[in-house]
Amino acid sequence: MSGTPGTWVTVAKASELASGAMKRVEIGGQELAVFAVAGTFYALSDRCGHMSAPLSRGALAATPAGLVITCPLHGSRFDGATGKNLSGPVKEAPPDLDQASDRLRRFLARTAELSAAIRTHDVPRFDVRTVGDDVQVRL
Ligand code: FES
Repeated sequence: MSGTPGTWVTVAKASELASGAMKRVEIGGQELAVFAVAGTFYALSDRCGHMSAPLSRGALAATPAGLVITCPLHGSRFDGATGKNLSGPVKEAPPDLDQASDRLRRFLARTAELSAAIRTHDVPRFDVRTVGDDVQVRL
């Protein structure tokens, strides 16, 4: 797909976008995570505001406080409607490393400590509309 900045571009079919599932779309040089929850459509940059992991491969949850996307790499959390960073990244290595060597545990702990020192930014959100069955995003 291609697109010019400021224009509306079809990125998905509403009937094919399952509620709660995230779809990765590349268009006009942008990598987007497009998703629907309870009949409302959303689009954020697919690049985590921490170290650019693909958010579309993370977890999307509807919580009492709103939609929350959790990054699959270090666990930073973002508001699914606005892209605002809510928390993260996770500062510790995973707790279930009983079978791992001491060297691997030290490496993961060091990696977690270093990644936690990297600032996490909000991710850009994009305006979304539907035209018939087309889900369109304004680039
Ligand atoms: S890349 Fe997303 S939390 Fe680190």
